[in-house]
Amino acid sequence: MRNEKWGIALSSGFPEKIRIFDTTLRDGEQTPGISLTPENKLRIAKRLDELGVTVIEAGFAAVSEGEMEAIKLIAKEGLNAEICSCARGVIGDIDAVKKSGADSVHLVIPTSDLHLQYKLKKSREAVLKITEDCVQHAKDQGLIIELSAEDATRSNSGFVKKVFFTGVSAGADRICPCDTVGVLTPEKTYEYFSKMRKNFANVQISAHCHNDFGMAVANSISALRAGANQVHATINGLGERAGNAALEEISVALKFIYGVKIPIKTELLYGTSRLVSRLTGVPVQPNKAIVGDNAFTHESGIHVHAVLEQPLTYEPISPELVGVTRRLIAGKHAGTHGIKATLAEMGLHPTDEQLQETFQRVKTLGDKGKRVTDADLQAIAESVMGLPKTRSILLEEITVVTGDRVTPTASVRLNLNGNVLTEASVGIGPVDAAMNAVRRAVSAVEPIQLEHYHVNAITGGTDAAVEVIIRLRKGDRVATAMGVRGDIVMASVEAMLSGMNVLLVDYNKINSKRVENGGK
Ligand code: KIV
Ligand code: ZN
Repeated sequence: MRNEKWGIALSSGFPEKIRIFDTTLRDGEQTPGISLTPENKLRIAKRLDELGVTVIEAGFAAVSEGEMEAIKLIAKEGLNAEICSCARGVIGDIDAVKKSGADSVHLVIPTSDLHLQYKLKKSREAVLKITEDCVQHAKDQGLIIELSAEDATRSNSGFVKKVFFTGVSAGADRICPCDTVGVLTPEKTYEYFSKMRKNFANVQISAHCHNDFGMAVANSISALRAGANQVHATINGLGERAGNAALEEISVALKFIYGVKIPIKTELLYGTSRLVSRLTGVPVQPNKAIVGDNAFTHESGIHVHAVLEQPLTYEPISPELVGVTRRLIAGKHAGTHGIKATLAEMGLHPTDEQLQETFQRVKTLGDKGKRVTDADLQAIAESVMGLPKTRSILLEEITVVTGDRVTPTASVRLNLNGNVLTEASVGIGPVDAAMNAVRRAVSAVEPIQLEHYHVNAITGGTDAAVEVIIRLRKGDRVATAMGVRGDIVMASVEAMLSGMNVLLVDYNKINSKRVENGGK
């Protein structure tokens, strides 16, 4: 079979029904520095369920009270996905899984000599006995059992086989040889899982791939082709060290390159990625495949020109298929076509001469190493076109209160096209409170979301000037803007208001008013 769009040979060999086992809330949470509250775990679990994952590994019930509470909350939610908890080969861990209300246990048994000698300090015989006892105990508790061999890919293969035979004979429902430190290659993975499938013809087989050598996604796909019917993955590739296989990358490659059916609603991937990034505090690298900020963003003139004619020239798939909006960026590499298209979206239609002048000014700024935001482009074009500096939204007053044992609170008074809007809000800190107050005031009239917030200190010291860069969305439109001040709250509010201005200015209204006023 061939994928006609790209002429790529489609591989048969994939299972009819691919299962996606999401471990964002367990292996993903083991990313250094991440710690999710039960409420935030529940928010992510609900989103994963909407996305269509088959299994949600919600955590490790025996680890802490918070973990137990989180799994209980998620298990009670009545989601479509199977809810799973991780457990070591310890009876108490399995009891904790049962107590959490999870449907299944992800029972992890180390199998490599390295792990047996230095971590467990147990013999292979002892590990086989533990496997048998734990699987039997989990079965008695009525749990679905996924039995993982930890560090399987660096283990004696005969021993891994014995562990799985023991587990399956005792009632394990699925087996998973883990590539714990990511040492497989796509070729070795294919061989490994082909053998696995021969040895365990009637058992569900999972792949759990880590990204230490950047091959987790390719290895997961290779495992599916060779005989696995389930892959473990995390949103944004979160996980220990270099992370796990990224769910969004596996899903999109399977669906759009291999043409395979998957349970994932790919159009929800970007939103899910952003939710996970926000709640875990781990930013997504801009050039990350599928969900990175630059994955569907174009600046270079040649690319933008071609993409405006036919997006497939420089995009392998439409951004909408993964829930992203294409963005064109003004900067040193930009061309007139891109700038014209961006200005048209803002409602600005310069003459050819004005466009050339705007283009030159953007290039000059780019050459000086300046990042040109949409708000900058708007200001340049307004000045070139001789338009008055339009501000649909103005800050009339802001008060922010913060301190020890005080909930950070902000109140704002804004003027939106002559209408006064007042609002107050609390936040995690003073910046959050101020941004929330502005957003709430404006959202009552215009639904605008903050998609991205980034702060840089551009000078040193406690009196450093800070640069805040934001990206806002209103329906299909996005706008970037920057605020630079010595005060981080004011820099943030400034960025927010100039971004909102790009999205809210109505040049048609302004032009008709100017005509009424005789061109002023
Ligand atoms: O990478 C790994 O081996 C794991 C196990 C705990 C399943 O995450
Ligand atoms: Zn892992």
